[in-house]
Amino acid sequence: MTIIAHLSDTHFDGTERALARSRQVMACLRGCGVDVILVTGDLTDHGDVKEYEQARAELVADVPVLLLPGNHDDRAAYRKVLLGGDGTAPINQVHRVGGLLFALCDSTIPGEDEGLLAAETLDWLEGVLAGAEEPVLVCLHHHPVRLNHPLLDSIRLRNPDDLAAVLRASSSALAVLCGHAHAAAATTFAGLPMIAAPGVFSTTRLPWTTTDELVWSNTFDRDDVPGVVFHVVDDGQLTSHFRSTAA
Ligand SMILES: [Fe+2]
Ligand SMILES: [Fe+2]
Repeated sequence: MTIIAHLSDTHFDGTERALARSRQVMACLRGCGVDVILVTGDLTDHGDVKEYEQARAELVADVPVLLLPGNHDDRAAYRKVLLGGDGTAPINQVHRVGGLLFALCDSTIPGEDEGLLAAETLDWLEGVLAGAEEPVLVCLHHHPVRLNHPLLDSIRLRNPDDLAAVLRASSSALAVLCGHAHAAAATTFAGLPMIAAPGVFSTTRLPWTTTDELVWSNTFDRDDVPGVVFHVVDDGQLTSHFRSTAA
């Protein structure tokens, strides 16, 4: 059995508020028996080096912590601080933990909020899936399906059909895990479970829970308690448990 703690959208911005919310989640996970921690993007709010230095200092644990970029991140600064390299090519990484293979895909388009899996990323993922001997968790920032929220859905992945074709050509993928939505949500994509993690920084208000007309300035609830998803993979089956974190 492998337990994955999945959080997302820490948006480190140099403020005490962002720092406190990430610390609350990481404190909750410390010593609680998970095998790996996954953070699905928007690690920082502005993609600044100082914000990445904070992310590097805070997103640590005695188990592997896997990170990938989101639309608020900057590839060059991300690489410089977190990976120790240069360049602005997509940041695609593969990690093996607990009998699982994590394919961490870069779905960002520099300077834009929408997502796209570039041809080189799709080719890379195809190769990862083809060579995998373990079940693969395909992880990316942008949700590839509509999540019933007009604003969020306007900045989802632009080319879901390309991802679906790669996933359907393989029997290795177990699930698709994403962030970006700042909302815990479960659906399916290309015949697989598709789980969006809640946002550490804020939570998206749903259109049917308010009479307000939702616009970007009032969509994110900044007071909601940060949450985490615990994905349990046992004998090839994935079960996802959604929890808020205690203060
Ligand atoms: Fe975000
Ligand atoms: Fe995002």
